[in-house]
Amino acid sequence: MPRAALVLGSGLGGFAAEVEDATKIPYADIPGWPRSTAVGHAGELVLGTVSGVPVAVLSGRVHLYEGYTAQQVAFATRVMGKIGVKSILFTNAAGGLNLSHGQGSLVLIRDHINLMGENPCLGPNDDTLGPRFFDMTDAYSAELRSRILSKARELGIPLHEGVYLGLKGPNFETPAEIRFFERIGADLVGMSTVPEVLAATHMGLRCAAISCVTNLAAGISAEKLSHEEVLETGRRVRGTFVRLLKAILPEVAR
Ligand code: HPA
Repeated sequence: MPRAALVLGSGLGGFAAEVEDATKIPYADIPGWPRSTAVGHAGELVLGTVSGVPVAVLSGRVHLYEGYTAQQVAFATRVMGKIGVKSILFTNAAGGLNLSHGQGSLVLIRDHINLMGENPCLGPNDDTLGPRFFDMTDAYSAELRSRILSKARELGIPLHEGVYLGLKGPNFETPAEIRFFERIGADLVGMSTVPEVLAATHMGLRCAAISCVTNLAAGISAEKLSHEEVLETGRRVRGTFVRLLKAILPEVAR
């Protein structure tokens, strides 16, 4: 059974092809599993090995903006916890607020700010999953981050660190919102990952997450934002991202 899971963000679905001895299970065949509707997101669970370690790769995820509840968004994470996964590596596309992380940069998430107004742990607590009130101090495991950063350095792949601010979407932000988010300490803004990290941390799983800065956030550059730009940058960076993921998965599984 896999000890580590990898969640593929927008445009990274192709990584599933890197899994050896793969067993592919379409999400549609798993009872209760929500189906992704976003372009650039496939929909299957791929079990196999990457760089010699057994992993579960989630090719495609669902988002709050699709109309799913935070519990539905976190369903896959909770299944990973239930099948014995100990650590999860999330990837996503994000808008960049920090000018030192240019378009196409890879950024390891150090912490998040939840402005989604949602949380998969709302409602009656399932004590078999985790405690009612849980700590988020080390949600993005410092130990995993340090191992991932040294691996990236070893490979010569620049990997920045930053704070991810999660919003429901589906619109990209306004320039005024982005100025506000800069002031409160965000380096990245995106529409995923936060519900999953909350559910994972609730269950005591270790998380790591890497964003690809697919575009500079609204108002930071004069350009209008589009999903095409997000996918295009994702495609451009994919080779490097895949190389990094293959190298760090054994660190995440350790
Ligand atoms: N904002 C929110 N989510 C995103 C962005 C953005 O600019 N780019 C990719 N995902």
